This record gives sequence, C-alpha cells and structure tokens, in this order.
Amino acid sequence: MKHKRSDFPEGFQFGAATSAYQIEGHGFGGAGETHWDTFAATPGNVVRAEHGQRACDHYHRYEEDFDLLQAAGFDCYRFSTSWARVLPEGRGTVNQQGLDYYDRLTDALLERGIKPCATLYHWELPSALSDLGGWTNRDIAGWFGDFTEIIMGRIGDRMHSVAPINEPWCVSFLSHFVGAHAPGLRDIRAAARAMHHVLLAHGTAIGVMRGLGMDNLGGVFNLEWSDPADDSEASHHAAEMYDGYYNRFFLGGVFKKAYPEILMEGLGPHLPQNWQDDFDIIGAPLDWCGLNYYTRSVHRASQGPWPHHQAVEGPLPKTQMGWEIYPEGLYKFIMRTAREYSGDLPIFITENGMANADVISGGRVPDPERIAYIETHLDAVRQAIAEGAPVAGYFLWSLLDNYEWALGYEKRFGLVHVDFDTLQRTPKDSYLAVKDMLAK
Ligand code: FCB
Repeated sequence: MKHKRSDFPEGFQFGAATSAYQIEGHGFGGAGETHWDTFAATPGNVVRAEHGQRACDHYHRYEEDFDLLQAAGFDCYRFSTSWARVLPEGRGTVNQQGLDYYDRLTDALLERGIKPCATLYHWELPSALSDLGGWTNRDIAGWFGDFTEIIMGRIGDRMHSVAPINEPWCVSFLSHFVGAHAPGLRDIRAAARAMHHVLLAHGTAIGVMRGLGMDNLGGVFNLEWSDPADDSEASHHAAEMYDGYYNRFFLGGVFKKAYPEILMEGLGPHLPQNWQDDFDIIGAPLDWCGLNYYTRSVHRASQGPWPHHQAVEGPLPKTQMGWEIYPEGLYKFIMRTAREYSGDLPIFITENGMANADVISGGRVPDPERIAYIETHLDAVRQAIAEGAPVAGYFLWSLLDNYEWALGYEKRFGLVHVDFDTLQRTPKDSYLAVKDMLAK
C-alpha cells in the first residue's frame, strides 16, 4: 500500500464495516424471521436462493473476528444490530439472548481497544412488520423509535458513534421501486412512501437517542456518481434525475429539510399526505455525515414512465459486481456534500471497497486488484482533505466475505476470505497491506 497512517491528519480513524444479517447467522440465538428470509426463499430473487441463516457464523465466532480487527490495527468497527434479533416480532416481547449478544459484542470490542460504531438498521426488517406494510406504513417511525430505545438503552452507553439507518436509498428505492432487494416491490407509490418514511424513522431514532443522552450521532448515505451518456440536454437531464432520487433526495431531506424539485413531477403525487410537515423530525441536527461510495453510473433519456431514463454500460474497468471503478466520484462527492449539505460536520467514508473473485492458493489470497482499489480511493480522500474537506475517517467494506444480499455468497468483498463450507478465515493480501499501512 502506498499510503501510511501518518499521511492522514492526527486522529483520523480507520475502520472496517459489516452488517448483522450478512455475517451473524440469523438462525442462531432466537432471532425472529425477517423479510430477507422470505425474499430469499422465493425463486428468482437471490442467487441459488441463498440466505443468512448461518452466514459467517459470526454469532459464535465474533471473538476470533475481533482478534483479526485488532491485529490489523483498526481504530473502529462499524457493525449493525438486527431488529429481529432483539424484537423477534418487531414490537413487544424482547429476546433477551439478542440483547445479551450485542452486550457481549460491545465489550469484546472495547476489551480490544476498538471503538464500537453501530448502525441500528441494516435491512433485515422483522417479517411481522413487513406484514403491516413495513416501510410503506408511516407507523414504522414509531416502531423503529421503540426498537432504538430498547437496543440503545442496553448498549448506548458504550457506543462511540451511532447511525440509525444504513443507506436510505437501498431501504426504499432499491427495495420498493427497482425490486432488487426485500421486500422486492416494484411500485412507485410504495417507493415514494418508503423514501419518506425511512427518513422519518431516521429522525425519530435520532430524537430517541438524544433523549437517552447520547451523542456522536450521524446518518449513512450511499451515493453513486451519475454521468450523462453524451452531451445532449436529454442525457444531462437523465443524469440529474438519477442523482436526484439516488443521492439528493436523502441528503436534501436531512440537511436542507427539502426534496429536490426535479423529482416532484414523478414522485410528488405518491408521497404521503402532509409530508412537508415532517422535516423538523427528519432534519434533526447530526454530529457527522457518513458516505458509502462504490461506483458511478451513466444515463441517457428513454421513453416510458418516470424516471424516463436508462443506464448504459460505462467504459471503465469493473469489479466482480460489474461496477465501474471511479475513485474521482468519491473525491467529488466529499467536496459536494460538504459544500452543499453537511458544511463543517465531520465526514466519514462509512463504506468503500470492492468485490473480487478471490481464491486461496497455498494459504494465501492474492488480491492486488483490491489493494489498488483501496489505494486510489484513499488518494481521493487525501485530495479532498488537502483541499480542506473535513474527512475524519475511512471504513472498509468489509472485514469478512459475507452474504452479498441478492447476489448470495459469490461476491467477495472481505479483507478476510471466508470458506463458506468450513467457515475458515484467511486474511487476504489486502488485509496484510492495510495492516502494514496502519502500522506506519
Ligand atoms: C452496500 C451495503 C452493504 C454491502 C455493500 C457491497 O450498499 O451497505 O451491505 O452490500 O453495499
């Protein structure tokens, strides 16, 4: 790795990220059923219908995994808490084993000198709440507030930082308009409602945590840079529309208490009644802004219903996901987010990384592609810092190979290779390169 820890400002934090359903093993410890279990059990949704019942068995192996985090020299660990593990029915009776588990996990991090950075919701909605309409039902804000109170009432005293929801775009648009993630809806009304309610739930949880006396609270937004396919006005408009509903809707709601005008023609009629009255909750002040960044996409106009555009294949080299490698997008997003949305608040890159078809050979996992990806994205971070952007930390997705949602176990994002038959962990060359970087 060409970078050294000492190339970054004093106190800059390095971390690795994971999420509950992707690694824990939801079959263990009394967790309730989630919409990912049933989505995966329905033909055609997930590669080989794979699910998270065992995943990396992190539920039983977290000590070993945290030893790896510590040995690499990470400052922070970003993990998520499963709603259905704590409240199997989403509301009502608490699964004591679930609370105890997150308590043990927190202490195991602290014992190793690693700062726990929690995300309350990383996508595994309890099925019982899905039955009630899930994110399309406005009541979810209150249900989520209650879950927040219960889980943070137990571990909130030891959290370094907390964000309520991972990637509001994925929770709402990807899952209710594109239909690629649970619950797999393709319906503009459901999507618009989910987009608004996910932000209402975010703001409600922030309010609950303030009430518990917690600080260092933020939001985690996934951003995808959007470029026009050519110089025509129609393609520029298409790219702006994509940018609007992917990126600006969520940042705008939280930091400007407004949604982008460009979306109103398409989404406005489907937003819930009196949505304009919710911005004082949605826009509750935050302490930091988290950006998840992987790639960009390219768009041109198309006939047909809103959003009137289609993606075209871009020319850049791609990862195992088929995502273009575009580090400049990270630089541009950091600068734009600080300038237009989050101002002086610290920005954390809460996810960045790549999937690669990694294989073990002779006990090693050579992944020079991932090392190069991390290097060029850290170049982008350093450039932004040099130009005055308040970037305060960088988290790699992910510590372990894990359940990559609709793509199952095939797409490997880990710094540590996981053999999904034996569950054996093998640090990849990228893990060793990051470890070396963090020691310097
Ligand atoms: C992000 C998700 C994470 C993982 C990576 C590859 O959108 O937060 O769970 O799937 O993408």
